[in-house]
Amino acid sequence: MPIKLRLAILFSLVTAIIVTVGSVLFLHQVSSGLQSSLTAGLRTKGYILGQNISGGSQSGPTGSSSTQDVPSNLNGPDTNSVEVPLPGLPFSVAAPNSLVTAAQILNSNGTVLESFGVPASAPLLGASQSNSAASHELIIRKYLYKKLTLLLAEPVPGSSGQVAVIGASLKNIDSSVERLKVELVLFGALMVLIAGLVAWALTGAALAPVSKMRRQVEEIFELGQWSSLEVPKTKDEVAHLAKTLSELLRRLEESISRQRGFVAVAGHELRTPLAILKGELELAQKSDRTESELRFAVAEALDETERIIRLSEHLLLLARKDEGAAIVTLEMKEMAPILARSIDDFSKVATERDVSLMLNCNESVICGMDESALRQIMANLLGNSLRYSPSGTVIQITCEYQPSSVVLVVKDQGPGFPIDFIPLAFERFSRADEHRDRAYGGSGLGLAIVKSLVEALNGKISASNGTSRGAQITMKFPIPDFIKDH
Ligand SMILES: Nc1ncnc2c1ncn2[C@@H]1O[C@H](COP(=O)(O)OP(=O)(O)OP(=O)(O)O)[C@@H](O)[C@H]1O
Ligand SMILES: [Mg+2]
Repeated sequence: MPIKLRLAILFSLVTAIIVTVGSVLFLHQVSSGLQSSLTAGLRTKGYILGQNISGGSQSGPTGSSSTQDVPSNLNGPDTNSVEVPLPGLPFSVAAPNSLVTAAQILNSNGTVLESFGVPASAPLLGASQSNSAASHELIIRKYLYKKLTLLLAEPVPGSSGQVAVIGASLKNIDSSVERLKVELVLFGALMVLIAGLVAWALTGAALAPVSKMRRQVEEIFELGQWSSLEVPKTKDEVAHLAKTLSELLRRLEESISRQRGFVAVAGHELRTPLAILKGELELAQKSDRTESELRFAVAEALDETERIIRLSEHLLLLARKDEGAAIVTLEMKEMAPILARSIDDFSKVATERDVSLMLNCNESVICGMDESALRQIMANLLGNSLRYSPSGTVIQITCEYQPSSVVLVVKDQGPGFPIDFIPLAFERFSRADEHRDRAYGGSGLGLAIVKSLVEALNGKISASNGTSRGAQITMKFPIPDFIKDH
């Protein structure tokens, strides 16, 4: 369900609850206000009736069952508007324009002495009610001729236990309350509708920039044309979202174009050795080739195959790293034996090239390491150094504790890196001298892989040239905590 609709419904519901609770309280307030007002009016009229009786107009039971009219001074316009202070009662009110429908003077035992508006044979109060009304005011609701009537009974002043009962129909109040109820329902419905519409409009306005952004992003993906999102000038959450989304798109674009470039270059790099391999195999297949030509072709084909395998392994490792897969498993290892084994792997080639490999690493150097990753790092670095080292030179491998890290350095005495190439040395497929390095069989992935592995081992790597000459690769790995504590 759209947010706009959800918020509109929520606002309408909350408004409905508030309006309902408010209306119920208001209706209760109005209804009880009207009833108190009516009660006060009745009290006034009861008082007048009592005064009439105690003034001697009536003193005994009529015994008549005839119905007298309600006296005009109980319903006449003069009494309706007169304020009558009632002794002992906490208010002084104008009687409302209510119609007194019944009045009776009763004895404390319930005998009707005088009756107005109702037959004398039908007492408005029962015996026990009359008895209690003889001592204090009594208010009751009762149906009189199917009409709900409010009866107020109070002792007649100066009499011996006589009770004046006066009743007024609640019809007017009930119909007023009913009318008010209908009006409140209509008002409530209108408020609910307005709240829903306002919420709908406000949410729509607030979300408009978000919808615009969504359309822009959809367009970018549909057309494949990268462009940055329009960031609203407001410095609010939507503007922050637009900035974040723009940054995300920028990185996505970078990553996709890097990936495309990677695939394109990888394809190109694979094509060269495959083409050479094909050429060698064609040569080997020729009917007029000599045996030495055959041997040469097979040896070259083997070389190229090895190159293809190495390149594929490198590409696979980088792809796994890009996917976020774990490419190392860290364990506490002594560095010296692993480095010694790596050097052993190259000792034959080094001897052939008259290059010395010198290891300087204390047996005690321990570090969180992955043996095969370190062997791969050393293979790539020694392979490079041996390639560029003139005969009679030394390749130095040192590994030692420094204050905050275990530092591993591979340094040769070759020509070193061209200065402007140093910042690019760890980039994929980067070679200082395209033709020369390709002729060596390099694909420009070795140092990129070394960097990925060093970073996976929580280390840092840098390339530089030694003070005299030669290339130098420095790697720093975190020192284990238990060594730090010593
Ligand atoms: N010890 C070194 N001395 C001088 N130049 C170096 C040295 N090591 C690397 N380079 C330069 O850095 C480039 C990148 O090296 P890298 O190991 O990444 O690729 P590669 O050796 O050309 O190919 P690959 O290692 O993928 O087979 C090399 O092509 C070379 O130009
Ligand atoms: Mg290399």
